[in-house]
Amino acid sequence: MINTTPFYHQSLIQTIKKVTTLSPENFDEYSVQLIVDFLEISHQRFCNQLIPEIEQNFLLLIDYFQDNNTLKILFNLFLKFQIDFKQHVRIEEKTMFPYAKILYKASISNSITPALFIHFSKYNIKDFINSHENSECYLTEIIFLFQKQQEIQNHTIYNVLIKQLCQFDNEIKTHAWIEDNVLVKKVKEIEDALEDFVKTAKS
Ligand SMILES: [Fe+2]
Repeated sequence: MINTTPFYHQSLIQTIKKVTTLSPENFDEYSVQLIVDFLEISHQRFCNQLIPEIEQNFLLLIDYFQDNNTLKILFNLFLKFQIDFKQHVRIEEKTMFPYAKILYKASISNSITPALFIHFSKYNIKDFINSHENSECYLTEIIFLFQKQQEIQNHTIYNVLIKQLCQFDNEIKTHAWIEDNVLVKKVKEIEDALEDFVKTAKS
């Protein structure tokens, strides 16, 4: 199969995979635009691929172990988690991501107009920092309870599902880390530089 992932996304994914402890400096070479593109593509993968696959395997397992009520409760918890998660994604895609992209475009233009637009904008990075709640710990809790289900552990679908849940859990933790530690840092740097630019232009 032909790999259609753009080269720069592959490079970013390799950076995430190769370092044992992530640090913001690992992402210095990537622009805000690229980081946001990557985060948006990850959202699509989570919502359109990983969540439906997990739901499907949960349902297969519930169908096989019809008397296991805990499994049904865990599935309901997962449904609740994914509703909250998708809401979280929608908010980021309507607020922080468009803001970060406009900010980045302003930073590479030499005109004062986009800088002034940012200067008078109501939204800023502090709004994101104050409102960004991470829901991934909720998924970790579901996995912990799921792993306690002795009765289902020899079933093939259990093994597939636990692998999918753990992979999803790891990916959303890395995703949230990039938002909080890479995107926020880069956006803050641009905000500060644009503020300086506006102050210099005014004086
Ligand atoms: Fe996100």
